[in-house]
Amino acid sequence: MLALSLALCAPSKAGPSLALMPLPAQVSIGEGKLIIDDSFSIRISGYSDRHLQDATARLASRIARQTGIPPRRAGKPTLVVECRGAAPEYPALSEDESYRLEISPISARVSAPTVTGALRGMETFSQLIAADADSFFVPTLRIDDRPRFTWRGLMLDAARHWMPVPVIERNLDAMAAVKLNVFHWHLSDDQGFRVESRLFPKLQQLGSDGNFYTQSDVRRVIAYARDRGIRVVPEFDMPGHTTSWLVGYPELASAPGRYEIERKWGIFEPVLDPTREEVYKFLDAFLGEMAGLFPDAYFHLGGDEVLDTQWKQSRTIQAFAAKKGFQTSAELHAYFNRRIQALLAKHGKKMIGWDEVLAPGLAADVLIQSWRGQKSLADAARQGHRGILSYGYYLDHMQPASFHYQIDPVSGETAALSAQETALVLGGEACMWSEYVTEETLPSRIWPRLAAIAERFWSPRETTDIHSMYTRLDAVNRWLQWTGVQNRSGYSLLSERVAPGDRAPALWVLVNAVEALGIDQRQEARHYTSLIPLNRLADAASPESESVRHLEEVVAGLSADPGQRQQRVEELRRAFTEWSRSSEQLRSLLSVRFLLLEASSVSEDLSRIGNIGLRALQYLESGEKISGDWLAQQEHDLDRMAQPRAEVVLAAVRPVHALLDALSRPPSHAEPVGNSPISH
Ligand code: ACM
Repeated sequence: MLALSLALCAPSKAGPSLALMPLPAQVSIGEGKLIIDDSFSIRISGYSDRHLQDATARLASRIARQTGIPPRRAGKPTLVVECRGAAPEYPALSEDESYRLEISPISARVSAPTVTGALRGMETFSQLIAADADSFFVPTLRIDDRPRFTWRGLMLDAARHWMPVPVIERNLDAMAAVKLNVFHWHLSDDQGFRVESRLFPKLQQLGSDGNFYTQSDVRRVIAYARDRGIRVVPEFDMPGHTTSWLVGYPELASAPGRYEIERKWGIFEPVLDPTREEVYKFLDAFLGEMAGLFPDAYFHLGGDEVLDTQWKQSRTIQAFAAKKGFQTSAELHAYFNRRIQALLAKHGKKMIGWDEVLAPGLAADVLIQSWRGQKSLADAARQGHRGILSYGYYLDHMQPASFHYQIDPVSGETAALSAQETALVLGGEACMWSEYVTEETLPSRIWPRLAAIAERFWSPRETTDIHSMYTRLDAVNRWLQWTGVQNRSGYSLLSERVAPGDRAPALWVLVNAVEALGIDQRQEARHYTSLIPLNRLADAASPESESVRHLEEVVAGLSADPGQRQQRVEELRRAFTEWSRSSEQLRSLLSVRFLLLEASSVSEDLSRIGNIGLRALQYLESGEKISGDWLAQQEHDLDRMAQPRAEVVLAAVRPVHALLDALSRPPSHAEPVGNSPISH
């Protein structure tokens, strides 16, 4: 075998490229390939149990989907899976997830100390399957792999918009596919209480609009996740974000009810009363019930965004605080957290809280989840707390994958920690808050960006090449569909609603040319509540347009490789022509479909952008002198068109802007584009 360093696995002109995400710790690529044809079969060698058997059966059926070749049960095995022992009955923090994958032209082997490592290795095998002119195959290689961080999670908010069990299961499949190992389930908030409590049934009966997980649903999800080596950490957010609890149990509140399920988005005044023993009695029983339902060692009590309005308005609460000598509401909140931590400890659980819970006197084994920056994670570590980073991994902000990819759990303030303190940083979690996400749009909001974050959590720290990340992300985004996650279905749903039978290919062109805005901008756009449907252009659009990013790369490549210049110009011309024609094709549809009326001006602008691009290509090709006035006018127009409307931004502006920039650069910097100097 030809040993190559990790760096060469990043796609480059000279080196091989593997569409793997996360990139493994060590890869050596060999010569040749292992063919996957109708003789392919998988066999377990050595230790075996139901979990491993189920996992190999799932891999066999995944490979059958990927290739269309039915799985074989007998014959000489092509892939041997060999573990030395079982995984823990329930996934453990810090368990050994390492594996080795060896592929030769005649067979492949995944070997691992435990079943969990074998699961990770089998996902890598599935990702490696490719096709060429002759067959499906996997390249010959050897991979030695293990995670950098032990806590690699996704937090999903199932409270603000309801997320049915099958949606969660498909997402768990995709999480396992990119080697994530924690599913943090945000189960209660002002807008909904989502779990059946048998002790306090009014929680779900009055707090959920009928959308809640039965205890049997919860067990099913935990078993499903467990089979994939994923822990399930429940969150019941308190003492704030609790309006939905108070509909059925107003006596828990800090101010007299009545309470109704909150329909708006935001931070609200209702909070639990931290001063009354009956509240702790209720929570003791409730947490005991939930501690029995969720086997994970950790239990999240939320603790974020606690408004103290009700506390300040209550004479009895103020009297209690004064008696305890509390000077601030933060001290009262800290008192509540200490009480809850003691209850959780009594029920055998370690507490997790959002970083607001970090305060003097907090038990050392409380884990801090930082959403407000690396500083609170560093502060927590200095005080001896374990922690995970979520700041920078908020998927609802609709940032590009590159933004998240560049944030490391050990960077900024955490980079200054001692080795001992750094070891307390266990990893991170991406967060999918669901104000602007439904079960329908969820997959396209999570994927593929979460795969880039998964790489940050799994791969060696030096894995930072953004170009390589995007090349692999595009491939992984297509591959993820084999897991069953519906990450690319948003457009077709919008299209079916507004133009049944898919009579509007130009709608595809428009959707691909725009990007959805994040929570900060959407909340300004209209008076959104949980009752307003999310079925607009913005909901069909991706957070990050793959096709526009590709065009940006084409523009960047114009001056890089003269041999391919003409091909690149033609590719740009095709895209700009499509944009240019799209508004004409869509005009009749946009004016008669209420969901699309707001998109008219976006569509007209897309055609203008296409026209500017086409004119720029003419300049590029003819060597004609560019008028400085023309250039200034186009840039002015593009800046205007880059302003968000209809809750989207026209990403198409970017490659055309880049093209104008290239045209306007002095000739010495713009070869061979620079044969079109500007005249002023
Ligand atoms: C949070 O984003 N309020 C944890």
